[in-house]
Parts: sequence; structure tokens; C-alpha cells
Amino acid sequence: MLGLRVAMDTSKRILCVGRSYIDMVNVVKSYPEEDTDQRCTDYYWQRGGNASNSATVITILGLQAEYLGVLADDNEARWLRSDFERQGVNIEHCVTSAVGGSPVTSTVSSEATGSRTITHTERNLPELTFEAFDKVDLSSNKYQWIHFEGRSNADEMRKMFQKIEIHNESVEPVHQIKTSMEIEQVIFPELEAIVNCPEYVFFSKDWSRSKGLTSKETCVDVYSKKVKPGGVAICAWGEDGAAGKTADGEVISMPAFLQPRVIDTLGCGDTFVGSVVAALYSGKNVSDAIEFGCRVAGAKCAIKGFADLKRFGSMLEGSND
Ligand code: FRU
Repeated sequence: MLGLRVAMDTSKRILCVGRSYIDMVNVVKSYPEEDTDQRCTDYYWQRGGNASNSATVITILGLQAEYLGVLADDNEARWLRSDFERQGVNIEHCVTSAVGGSPVTSTVSSEATGSRTITHTERNLPELTFEAFDKVDLSSNKYQWIHFEGRSNADEMRKMFQKIEIHNESVEPVHQIKTSMEIEQVIFPELEAIVNCPEYVFFSKDWSRSKGLTSKETCVDVYSKKVKPGGVAICAWGEDGAAGKTADGEVISMPAFLQPRVIDTLGCGDTFVGSVVAALYSGKNVSDAIEFGCRVAGAKCAIKGFADLKRFGSMLEGSND
């Protein structure tokens, strides 16, 4: 039952299931005109991907995270593995695929506006199957939350949710595993069919707009009726903050914590998702968790990368008391 607050054991892991990319970032003074020549002010590459970034943020906030996804058998993936390890994200169940290469994202990050323009390629890497997820031993008592990045493998994801549900039916509430899912990209319309599987569902602005929903409040109002009974719909709307709603609750509406200078918005949405999950996991209620998510995501926009978000970890301490 969602209404019942069962104390979370923060020594357990949050498992983040999804995709990991190499993010190549070109920083420019202003976004270029097509077919022009401009020198970048900076260039770097880092590990990216929604679930991958959310796992990083959860770890930086002081909780234990594991990432589960398919990794290629190439040099980029070897670097991704070493970066997960460097950041303390466990990857023990990741699958190595002989087919395909590491997904790569090229990003143009504009100093003038802080915008990030993304193009990405999947490089033929397969999506995670239920068979691979099934290797995770839910009865090991290591996991108390599993978060999914919604992708094209909705049918496989449905089976993963079913496995968690069967596990939850067989154990005491204290050992039950909470679930969440992020629906961001409109290129995965199949995700609409599984919005009723997890307990918490995060919707993006792009997704909402593609459904004709013109604000975060409208999004959560509509989707709170489609998520599972007792579930929560959450929607982040960039500069307009975020909202949340349970089927029988009020709409919670939170403004963004806008920063005077926006430096790097790559992964801000993933930061919001990771920090809301971390806050809920730590025992905060939905409203406080969304506020926490807005705070951390706002701070992320003003820094390069994620490391400096560590200071927010102390705000989660004591949430479980
Ligand atoms: C940011 C991000 C990047 C990644 C891209 C994939 O939200 O996760 O790190 O390359 O999206 O869609």
C-alpha cells in the first residue's frame, strides 16, 4: 500500500534499469547557425544516459545505487564500466552484448543560454531483456527500490514489474520493493501501455505535450487516473518546476529553483528523477520529495557535471525517523 509509510532501510540499494551513453559535449559561446564554422570553448566527454545519470546522482547523495543495462563489448563500454566503478555505482548484473556498440550522444552546450542540444545514436545495441533482469535475485534482500528508464522494451519491462509484484506478494511489507519509471521520450509510445505498472511514474514535458497536455498540473491530473491504484504521477517541466498527484490527492505544484547563471543543463531531468527517488526512498513524502528534486535539479543547472551535488545528501538524513 502506498499510503502506508514503511521505514526504508537506507543501507539497501536502489537499482536503476536503463541505458548508458558516452556523452560528447561541445561547449560553444552561442548555439551555431547551420553550415557555419565556430570554435568550441570547451570539449569533454562523460558517462550519460537517464538511468545511468540518476544512479550517479543517487550515489552522490549518499545512498547506494546499482545500474543495470546492456553494455557493449568495446573500448567505450570498458570506460563506462570504469566510470561507474569510480563513482561507486554497482554494475554487477550488467549484461555484455556481442552485438552493437556503445550508444553515443553528441551535445552542443550553449554558454549563452545553458541549453543543451542532443543528438544520439544507439549503435545497434540491444535493449535489456526480462531474461537478464531475471538474474537479479530479489529475495537477496539487497533491493528496496527499482527505478526504470522507460524505453522501447515495454513488453519486457512489463514482465520485470510482474516479477517484482510476485516478490512483493510473498514477503512482509518491510521487504517489499518500491518501483518507479521515467517516461521521457516520445519515440517510445509503447510506454503508455505500462503506466499502470510502477508506483511512481515520472512524465516529461515533451511526453506531456505530445499528448496535448499543456502544463505539469494537467499532466499529473490526467495521469494520476491512469497509474496503478494508489500510484503517483509526477511531471517535471524545466523552468516551470514540477508537479505530482496521487489519484485521490491534491495536485502538488512546485516552482523551479532557478539559478542566476545556467552552466550545464545536460542531465538536469535525470537529476530531478534521481533525487526524487532518493528522497522518497529516504522517507520524505511526495511533496517534500518533489521540492527536494527541484532544489537539486536547479543546483545542477549551475554546475558542470554532478559531483558538487554532494552537499544535498545531508538534507536526506533523518528523513526516515
Ligand atoms: C540526458 C541524457 C544524456 C544522454 C541522453 C540520452 O538526459 O541522459 O546523458 O546521452 O540523455 O537520451
